[in-house]
Amino acid sequence: MELKIRLEEKNDYRKVEEVTREAFWNLYIPGANEHSIVHYLRNSELAIPQLNFVGIKDGEIVGYIFYTKAQIIDKKGTSHEVLTFGPLSVSPKLQKLGIGKALIEFSKKRAIDMGYKAIIIYGYPEYYNKVGFKSAANFGIARADGVFAKALLAMELYPDSLKGISGNFHESVSCFELDENEFLEFESSFPIKEKKYELSQDIFLEMVDKLEDLENMKLNNN
Ligand SMILES: CC(C)(COP(=O)(O)OP(=O)(O)OC[C@H]1O[C@@H](n2cnc3c(N)ncnc32)[C@H](O)[C@@H]1OP(=O)(O)O)[C@@H](O)C(=O)NCCC(=O)NCCS
Repeated sequence: MELKIRLEEKNDYRKVEEVTREAFWNLYIPGANEHSIVHYLRNSELAIPQLNFVGIKDGEIVGYIFYTKAQIIDKKGTSHEVLTFGPLSVSPKLQKLGIGKALIEFSKKRAIDMGYKAIIIYGYPEYYNKVGFKSAANFGIARADGVFAKALLAMELYPDSLKGISGNFHESVSCFELDENEFLEFESSFPIKEKKYELSQDIFLEMVDKLEDLENMKLNNN
């Protein structure tokens, strides 16, 4: 499959949001929020436009990766800047064909050129282990609340780039901090789509529950 990858441009914004909405719709919750994260954060100081790439097949945007800045705060309270990404979206009909992996690989090279040390994300280990992520606990990196979460994953951008860096991962912002009215107004600009239950939502919740059970180590950072 021929896939072109290039930086997101202003003209792409709506299409990127549509692809993201389609990719996440009814997957983890009835409906989806991820397209609004992109919409509201794209122009914030947390965004890194030099790292937001679209994947194009046959002239159409079919994939997207969106990065923001995040921090690891160590025991001494020193903050180390890292990258996080999400959403990562691939059009539903073209999933599992290597597009997600290609977007990660491509953006990773650019991140290295820009001098970043590591990417830390929350995600399914089954997928992200295949594209180079390891459990963040391997590096002594825990969630903001100090819990070593299984879904918290890290990738060094060069050998030993995380050596000497451990602590708690602080994401910049989550979609839940976005204003609900603004979100509803934004959502109403898209064609109506049925919000419904899908088995994938239960699988996601089960994974979260299962992982919470496994999170047995607590960092005593304070
Ligand atoms: C998750 C997503 C970005 C992956 O992109 P993709 O292009 O479909 O996946 P790729 O083809 O790059 O997959 C690479 C490998 O991971 C595997 N894989 C893909 N999705 C997987 C999943 N959900 N669970 C486990 N493995 C998965 C592929 O089979 C492939 O394995 P292989 O290298 O052994 O052949 C895409 O499926 C998507 O947009 N999903 C909906 C939104 C979403 O969940 N985004 C991620 C949020 S954490």
